[in-house]
Amino acid sequence: MELVQCLHMNKGEGETSYAKNSTVQREIILHETSIMKEAISDCMRNTSPKTMGIADLGCSSGPNSLMVISEIISTIYSTTNYYNNYSSVVPEEVVIGLNDLPCNDFNDLFMHLPEFYNKLEKYKGIINGLDGCFVSGVAGSFYGRLFPKKSLHFVHSSSSLHWLSRVPETEKLDEEDLNKGKIYISKTSPDCVVKAYLSQFHKDFLTFLGSRAVEIVSGGGMVLSFMGRITPDAAAEVGSHQWELLAQALVSMASEGLIEEEKIDSFNAPYYAPSVEEVRNVIEEEGSFIIKHLQPFEIGWDEGSSSSSSSSSSSSSTNITTRGQHVAYTIRAVVESMLESHFGTSLIMDDLFYRYAQLIDNYFFNTRPIYIIFLISLTRK
Ligand SMILES: C[S@@+](CC[C@H](N)C(=O)[O-])C[C@H]1O[C@@H](n2cnc3c(N)ncnc32)[C@H](O)[C@@H]1O
Repeated sequence: MELVQCLHMNKGEGETSYAKNSTVQREIILHETSIMKEAISDCMRNTSPKTMGIADLGCSSGPNSLMVISEIISTIYSTTNYYNNYSSVVPEEVVIGLNDLPCNDFNDLFMHLPEFYNKLEKYKGIINGLDGCFVSGVAGSFYGRLFPKKSLHFVHSSSSLHWLSRVPETEKLDEEDLNKGKIYISKTSPDCVVKAYLSQFHKDFLTFLGSRAVEIVSGGGMVLSFMGRITPDAAAEVGSHQWELLAQALVSMASEGLIEEEKIDSFNAPYYAPSVEEVRNVIEEEGSFIIKHLQPFEIGWDEGSSSSSSSSSSSSSTNITTRGQHVAYTIRAVVESMLESHFGTSLIMDDLFYRYAQLIDNYFFNTRPIYIIFLISLTRK
């Protein structure tokens, strides 16, 4: 299954929307700040662009998308101020491409652009404010070319590159028994499942870097963050347990005859949390980028929510009263479209995510669930 056909974050601004349930992704963006500032300053020093091309890949919709580009502009502004003191280059124009898959809620994103342009007013005279900043939507997969050759100076992508271009494909992986009752790599997955996932990640990340290598000018920068793992074992709990619990919730529905068991066996998430070595190997193999920073950091499953500091309190969505519910809403906002496309409308999402939230609450009793995020800064050679 090609991801391009079915993946989109939950649209709009309702209770289950990505806009209302993306606080953990916001925290990840906040973790990027100092690396992003350094990368943008270096990029401006290296390239001195008159027209600066910027892209946010996998921008989605909701507050995070505009937060990212506001941060980038504000960094350009402060870097420019710094350079002004030392009489250096000011970009006359900034061209920003917001990219996501075609089913993304671009309408919602565009509706919030006036707020963004209003904020830009304060930079007027420095990058010619509103008149000098052009934002557009670019619909397509980042696993391929999206922009003209050498048109970008800085590229950002957060919480997106752990999505593969498709469900890993091997003849064996298609045999439903192979990953029975599981929807991602698990302790019981045979080697061929693990290999199929790694091979798809390798192919995709290589294509991603190759495409950006054509689009980014020499000296330009790229900051990426996505989920990974810190052990060689791809079935390690950190990086995969969110899928394990979701599989358990699905299996409990199947045991009550609410969904077909075979549907679970034939579903595999198009997601991969690589190890640092796997990421480094692909960057080195592709060869167009210098690694300036490649470090993992930890983030709690419900970080950034009001529930993260206590075992039960309310959050942005009114029905959320426990940490488990908060996490379940966050994951629902991301995976619902994919589940619907595989299981069809017979899968009652409210029921599934109610069960999932309970499993997560139990998990919180015994552990502090974390994601490992890789923060990567690259410079185009
Ligand atoms: C969890 S959201 C992250 C959104 C935003 N960057 C943030 O940090 O909040 C992941 C986004 O990546 C997008 N995405 C996944 N695969 C993609 C691909 N191949 N090309 C473009 N966008 C993709 C999804 O549609 C989704 O909007």
